[in-house]
Amino acid sequence: TIAGLKAVEVLDSRGRPTVAVTLRLADGRTVRAGVPSGASTGSREAVELRDGDPHRYSGQGVLKAVANLNGEIQDLLTGRHFTDLAAVDRAMIEADGTNTKARLGANAVVGVSMAAARAFALLADLPLWRFLTPAGATPRLPVPHFNVVNGGMHAPNRLDFQEFMIAPLGAPSLAEAVRAGAEVYAALRRRLSDKGFATGLGDEGGFAPEIDTPEDVLSLLVDAVSDAGYRIGQDGIAIALDPAASEFYREGHYHVAAEKLTSDDMISRYEAMVDRYPVWSIEDGLAEGDWDGWIRLTERLGPRTQLVGDDLLVTNPGIVAEAIGRRAANAALIKVNQIGTVTETLEAMRLCREAGWAQMVSHRSGETEDTFIADLAVATGCGQLKTGAPARGERVAKYNRLIEIEAAGSRPYGLP
Ligand code: PGA
Ligand code: ZN
Repeated sequence: TIAGLKAVEVLDSRGRPTVAVTLRLADGRTVRAGVPSGASTGSREAVELRDGDPHRYSGQGVLKAVANLNGEIQDLLTGRHFTDLAAVDRAMIEADGTNTKARLGANAVVGVSMAAARAFALLADLPLWRFLTPAGATPRLPVPHFNVVNGGMHAPNRLDFQEFMIAPLGAPSLAEAVRAGAEVYAALRRRLSDKGFATGLGDEGGFAPEIDTPEDVLSLLVDAVSDAGYRIGQDGIAIALDPAASEFYREGHYHVAAEKLTSDDMISRYEAMVDRYPVWSIEDGLAEGDWDGWIRLTERLGPRTQLVGDDLLVTNPGIVAEAIGRRAANAALIKVNQIGTVTETLEAMRLCREAGWAQMVSHRSGETEDTFIADLAVATGCGQLKTGAPARGERVAKYNRLIEIEAAGSRPYGLP
C-alpha cells in the first residue's frame, strides 16, 4: 500500500527540468526515482508532458506533470492495495487513457513505476535487481558500453554519428571492465590533445572533437585501446556504434559528412567499417521509418553484427513483436521512459529473450543520479548496458552501482 506520493521539479544532467518522485509506504519508509529524458527521441516514444510556458525554462518546465502526480495520480494510488507492480502500472495506464501516456505524462508515470518497483523490493527485503528478475532469466553483470566520443544531437561538433562506444567484452569481471573503460578514456584524451583536438565533453560524457568522418574516430579508438595496453576485438575491447541515423536522414537520403547516401550505400559503408574495425554492434544504423532498409541491413550484416533498434522499436512490445516477425533487426535497445512503465519494459525484454534477440539496457542523454537501469540490466541477464562515458556523475553512478552489486556477491559477467 502506498501511503503518500510527493513529486517535485528538479534538474537533469543537461540543466533541463525533470521529475523526481517519492513514495511513502505505510510504515513510513520512502523510495524515490528520478526521470531521464532523451534528445534524439523516436517519434513513437511515450510522450513527456512539458509545460510549454515560454517564460519558464523555455517551455521545458514539468509543473503540469508534477501537478498530475501530486493530484490525480496520488489520489489514484494511495490507500489502495496493489498485489504487484503490474497492477500499479495498469492502474496508471487505464487512468491515462491514451496510447502514449500523453495525458498524465510519460515522465510522470515512469517515475511512479520505477519508485513502485523499489517499494515492492523494499517490502520483500530484496535488492532491486533481485526483485526485478523475471522467471526464466539468470541475473548477470552486463558489459558496460562506454560512450567515449559524442556527436549528433549530443554535441555541438560536426560529427554526424551520435555515439562511439567501447565495450570490454573480454574483461574477466565488471570491475575490470570499468577499469578498462576508464583507462582507454584517459588514453583517448591524451591522443586527442596530442593531435590538437579540444577535449570538451558532450551530453553523455564522451569527447566531442571536430572530426568529420566516423572512420577517423574509429581509427582513434583502436589506437587509444592499444595505448592503454588492451587487446582490440571481441576477446578484449570491441567497439559499438549508435549513429542515431534518424537524425541525419532527410528526403530519402543519409547525410554523412559531405556525402549523400541511399540506404544501400549506408549499409555498404557499415559493411566496410565492420570489415576494417572491430565494430561488434550498430544501433540505429538506419532511420526509424526505413523498415525496408533495416530488413536488408539485417540480411547483409546480421550474421556477424548485432543490429540494435532504438528509435525503430522504442521499447514498445507491439513494435518489437512486429520487428521480430519481419527480421528488421536482431536486438533491442531498452529505455524505461520510452514506453513509460517498468512492466511494459520487462514485457519487451521477454519478447526479445524468447525470440533469441539480444537486449541492451540504456540511459538517456538527459539523466539524473538514479541508478535504476543498472539493476534492470543485472536482473534480466541481458548482458549489456550503455550509460555513457566513465565520467560525469550521472553516468558514473550507474557503473558504480554495478560495481557494488558485483562486490556484494559474485555473479557471472558478460554477454549471456
Ligand atoms: P537520447 O539518445 O537519450 O538523446 O534519445 C540516446 C540514444 O539514442 O541511444
Ligand atoms: Zn540510440
